[in-house]
Amino acid sequence: MTLIPSARDNSLGEARQKAEVDAFVDLSLVIVYLTRHDRALKKFQTRKTDVRSMMSSDDLARVRKEYSRHSLDELDVDLNPFVQFQQWFEQAVNAELPEPNAMALATATPDGRPSTRMVLLKGFDERGFVFYTNYEGRKSIDLAANPQAAVLFFWVELERQVRIEGTVEKTSKQESEEYFKTRPLESRLSAWASKQSSIIPSRSFLEQKMSDLEHRYGNREIPLPPFWGGFRIQPQVFEFWQGRENRLHDRVRYMRQGGVWQIERLSP
Ligand SMILES: Cc1cc2nc3c(=O)[nH]c(=O)nc-3n(C[C@H](O)[C@H](O)[C@H](O)COP(=O)(O)O)c2cc1C
Repeated sequence: MTLIPSARDNSLGEARQKAEVDAFVDLSLVIVYLTRHDRALKKFQTRKTDVRSMMSSDDLARVRKEYSRHSLDELDVDLNPFVQFQQWFEQAVNAELPEPNAMALATATPDGRPSTRMVLLKGFDERGFVFYTNYEGRKSIDLAANPQAAVLFFWVELERQVRIEGTVEKTSKQESEEYFKTRPLESRLSAWASKQSSIIPSRSFLEQKMSDLEHRYGNREIPLPPFWGGFRIQPQVFEFWQGRENRLHDRVRYMRQGGVWQIERLSP
């Protein structure tokens, strides 16, 4: 037995050393690759987040529009808010705005959870503002338990909004029927086909229901569904808002107090 390594032993040692170095290099490369890959992934994720925050801060902050087309004075408005609304509504119609009768309707559950959606104004007079819907959908469930509602019209080209708040009641069956008859055939059928706000399996489920109804009714008259009709909002408050320069907008509020409409200017 000798302690002096032979030439063969020496070359074996070198080979092992080289293999160890190679393995070390390979491992380092793997670590570097994984670290870079991980960073690249993180960078990608950060970039995605950056885009989102850019949209909510820098870009949106630059979206700025001056309002300067009209003005509104509490001394000039009509004493009757329905008349004032009619004037503005006619101006919105004459300006050929898209869907001037579209309004955002806010309802709330009895414990105060609000929700909004668009509906179409289908009539108004001094009794209130009428829209039609399914009586079993989410908004109707809210209104049955808490008959307080608010609607908002936004007529962007005129730089105007109108807010209305009040209590709601269902329109009479006769009134709902009269309106229902004016709807196109397909809209009358779709009122039957849709169990509004419920979860459905697919689009084809809905289309199948429509086609079943078409066959069922044929040329016969389509009756008003018992679960469908109008709501009338009886306003307690109106607010007419006119956009002005430098965010010094005009706001005129009407509040019904003891059967009289009190008119006040609000700070923008
Ligand atoms: C411009 C526009 C007008 C709409 N008009 C009505 C309407 O008059 N009645 C209605 O029930 N839904 C209407 N909708 C659909 C509603 O916004 C909403 O999706 C539907 O009523 C269900 O709401 P809910 O689940 O809160 O009850 C309209 C949607 C838009 C975008």
